[in-house]
Amino acid sequence: MKDISLLDKHFRVIISCAQIKTGIEHVADRINSDYRDREILFIAVLNGSFMFAAELVRRIKPLCRVSFVKVATYQGDVSGGVVKELIGLKEDLNGKHVILVEDIVDTGFTLDHVMAQIKSNYRPSSVAVATLLFKPQSYRKSIPVDYVGFEIPNDFVIGWGLDYNGYGRNLENIYSIAE
Ligand code: IMP
Repeated sequence: MKDISLLDKHFRVIISCAQIKTGIEHVADRINSDYRDREILFIAVLNGSFMFAAELVRRIKPLCRVSFVKVATYQGDVSGGVVKELIGLKEDLNGKHVILVEDIVDTGFTLDHVMAQIKSNYRPSSVAVATLLFKPQSYRKSIPVDYVGFEIPNDFVIGWGLDYNGYGRNLENIYSIAE
């Protein structure tokens, strides 16, 4: 598959669209078997999770609802910036089985922030985490990342909702930055 240029950087495919869909099917299968008759409230963390969330929830069998929240956007290709207020959480999470849906868990700073806000404001029955991509070498937190589509090296990636300065979210493969 072809390398691409986006703004001032070059990227190469690391996970193809077909592989991504297979990875998401595995995640959905695991969630379907783990939750069975439990109703799920998916909370997708925007912006990057919109594509993964759409592909994931259409494969979910138990009764479920889907809601969206937003945190600070990520600037450039270095992670770990200051995360701002969590906005858009209008659901009552008390007593619910919540699955947070992330595009990528990198340092875990964002996940930690979202989880802390949920736990300080609500008493959900359970909270699990589903992410399309996980960078284990970069992860600094201890929250379990329950459902992972793909573990990837500690490189900057785009595509499938993930952006470089706002661009590249539409790309149908996952691309890694090329040296
Ligand atoms: P964390 O807080 O370091 O775990 O990063 C989480 C957020 O940073 C993600 O939701 C993304 O928006 C962004 N991010 C982290 N790594 C990448 C990357 O490789 N490409 C694009 N965005 C990234």
